[in-house]
Amino acid sequence: MSRGTPKRVLFVCLGNICRSPTGEGVFRALVAGRGLGDRVEIDSAGTGSWHVGEPADRRMRQAAGGRGYELASRARQVSRDDFERFDLIVAMDRANRDDLAALAPAGSRAELRLFSDFLPPAAPRDVPDPYYGGGDGFDRVLDLIEQGAPRILDHLLGDLADGDTGGGAR
Ligand code: 4NP
Repeated sequence: MSRGTPKRVLFVCLGNICRSPTGEGVFRALVAGRGLGDRVEIDSAGTGSWHVGEPADRRMRQAAGGRGYELASRARQVSRDDFERFDLIVAMDRANRDDLAALAPAGSRAELRLFSDFLPPAAPRDVPDPYYGGGDGFDRVLDLIEQGAPRILDHLLGDLADGDTGGGAR
């Protein structure tokens, strides 16, 4: 029996070399682990263009690799077409979300959400940008993304029908 068109999710941050490649990589592992590879398509992009074509940041790849994730993406910049291709676009912080909202064509079909909509209410609203901070910022990104990813998958496969993700009013 056909299970219909795959659901498509796009993770977006500023550079597409730290947070959103991690969202993509962790989500790929989750989907594969549940045998749902034929039902979900996953990608990532950045609102900025500085790193287009580059692999994920080495520090981010090392931290992710330590938890068994391979970050294989090459950076690209988000485009207006993405709002037609994807069912769900997940912004890593509020600045990314606001930039995406400004880019979105009128009436586009993608649902635009903040990553922290899928985290418990006590979590930070923004997945902190680790690029300049260094230190444990990369592990912090992984902690938050591992926490939110299962809720995003539930939301995506629930046909986006469930508006209440449990993240509280934001
Ligand atoms: P990301 O991190 O948005 O998580 O990929 C950044 C990477 C690079 C820059 C900013 C944030 N940058 O300014 O070059």
